[in-house]
Amino acid sequence: MNRSSIAIFASGRGSNLQVILDAVQAGDCPVDVRLVISDRADAAALTIARQCGVAHVIHVDPKAFPSREQYDAHCAELIDQHAIQWIVLAGYMRILSAPFVRRFPGRIINIHPSILPAFTGAHAIEDALRYGVKVSGCTVHLVDEVLDGGPILAQAVVPVHDDDSVESLHARIQQEEHRIYPATLKRLVEARFQIDGRRVIWQQPSQTA
Ligand code: GRF
Repeated sequence: MNRSSIAIFASGRGSNLQVILDAVQAGDCPVDVRLVISDRADAAALTIARQCGVAHVIHVDPKAFPSREQYDAHCAELIDQHAIQWIVLAGYMRILSAPFVRRFPGRIINIHPSILPAFTGAHAIEDALRYGVKVSGCTVHLVDEVLDGGPILAQAVVPVHDDDSVESLHARIQQEEHRIYPATLKRLVEARFQIDGRRVIWQQPSQTA
């Protein structure tokens, strides 16, 4: 069977990118990471991808494009050019434009550091701490045109401790991210699911044969 080809979009540290590449390397995630795109030239994610031998590792500079739509249109061309099936956002700090999301319906996933629908947006961990929640966690979801709003594929919960800082809570959440993101990607390419309203109903591979 051909492996599903994926692209990973990342802006930062790239620890989720790293665990996905590790899982692929270990034979635990049957995908081909064919393309990595970053909007930041200095993103550690780019270095990790190059060191791991990803075939196409590309910095797409936002300053080279007059609008977000044109930037995203260029990324979409790269997706088509490399015959990518799934787009995996891993700490990608740009909001995707509506035409990009509409061009790849049900083919973009994201990981967010909260239990959605609580604490959407770029400051989820700070917002959760400030609100005083006693548990938080992470969510893997399909991307639609609503920010952090698509149907939920997987979630994991962590406790919030009284002495937590943003850094300590983020570190605990990332441990769960690193567990569920490669596992959900594996499930995505091996199993099928139906969407009932907002609910993602998974079917095991044996049921879909
Ligand atoms: C993760 O916490 C993820 O939930 C959020 O951005 C962070 C990316 O971390 N969307 P990394 O770059 O994968 O280490």
